[in-house]
Amino acid sequence: MQRPFPTAKIGFLGGGQLARMTLPAAARLGCEIHVLDPDPKCPAAALAQRFSCGSLTDPTALRALVEANDVTTYEIEAVDTEILKQLEAEGHKILPSPKTVATIQDKLIQKQAFAAANLPTAPFVAADSPDVDALLAFGAPLVQKARRGGYDGKGVVVFTDIIREDRILPVPSVLEAHVDFSHELAVMVARSPRGETACYPVVEMVFDAEANLLDTLLAPARVPEAVVRAAQALALDAVRALDGVGLFGVELFLTREGDLLLNEVAPRSHNSGHWTTEACLTSQFEQHLRAILDLPLGSTTQLRPAAMLNLVAGPKAQGAATLSGLETALATPGCTVHLYGKAEARPFRKMGHATLLSESPEAALAAAQGLRDVLRFGESS
Ligand SMILES: Nc1ncnc2c1ncn2[C@@H]1O[C@H](COP(=O)(O)OP(=O)(O)OP(=O)(O)O)[C@@H](O)[C@H]1O
Ligand SMILES: [Mg+2]
Repeated sequence: MQRPFPTAKIGFLGGGQLARMTLPAAARLGCEIHVLDPDPKCPAAALAQRFSCGSLTDPTALRALVEANDVTTYEIEAVDTEILKQLEAEGHKILPSPKTVATIQDKLIQKQAFAAANLPTAPFVAADSPDVDALLAFGAPLVQKARRGGYDGKGVVVFTDIIREDRILPVPSVLEAHVDFSHELAVMVARSPRGETACYPVVEMVFDAEANLLDTLLAPARVPEAVVRAAQALALDAVRALDGVGLFGVELFLTREGDLLLNEVAPRSHNSGHWTTEACLTSQFEQHLRAILDLPLGSTTQLRPAAMLNLVAGPKAQGAATLSGLETALATPGCTVHLYGKAEARPFRKMGHATLLSESPEAALAAAQGLRDVLRFGESS
């Protein structure tokens, strides 16, 4: 089959670190990336072949991006799906479909889609104007989640026992039962237009009780093989229930009783797939492009155990970012550092990550945790 060259012109909705890390894979496959982002200093702006400065909810900017490219995809789901649906109806290729992204944007509708497909989630109810009575009626322990606009834990409030009125978010929400999980797991799933599917190994978010931090991830997860297979099957079912075509990050809970529950799905590359760049035959970023271009999906075989350490700005971060420990990290065997090119630090902003490869998952995790206090973003002001 003869192909045009470049292989494809790809419009990217959002120019953050996920778009930035897709660029090397795009270059290898002969694709050109055209980023749309409101911030001219966003991580992918200076590296993409084309950059347009504009809002992801501006119909004119969205139309211009979609019309200028062969296929349009996402690195963030906070986009105007109505205009994208219209552009799709006009014959433009947008993957995942705006309908899938619209379902995911609303945590209530997303959960209802799983329930309609008989897929397990924590019990939940809708709460249009949540108040103490609504939360008490549902019963603690519970988690309140804003239906729209939450990310990185913003828009999520956990009420373990006492329900304090001032902690309730005054926005349309989902109330869900607090899950007593033994593991928080994630699976990256790819599904192409021709119907090919691929699942990556299941990974585990590691909560460090001593540091009270959830900043490391381990691949593969320390769970039995039967749980791995069930988690991959459930992740694939979740993507099918959403009519998902593209790349998806599926977050799951493993309860202390051994049951798997879906938490949420992201319609794009995902923090929990960063380790694939160093540890798998095909990175999540290349897989994303293969899926939306309907090319054969790549092998998801893991070559070595891996751990990932998120480099997050401190709680008081503000102003110019500073980094310490880079030399130590680079001198650590099996360590790869990724810096996202964000000049300005803000509280808890994701600034970079490090992947640690080793002989065993335990050794990789120990190496990642050992770097935590060394490789750090501080603040100069
Ligand atoms: N039902 C639940 N029971 C217990 N813990 C929960 C529950 N729902 C969410 N959490 C905790 O809160 C975290 C954030 O929730 P969730 O993933 O729904 O929100 P988010 O803002 O989309 O997060 P992120 O962008 O970090 O993935 C989860 O990773 C998990 O640790
Ligand atoms: Mg989440």
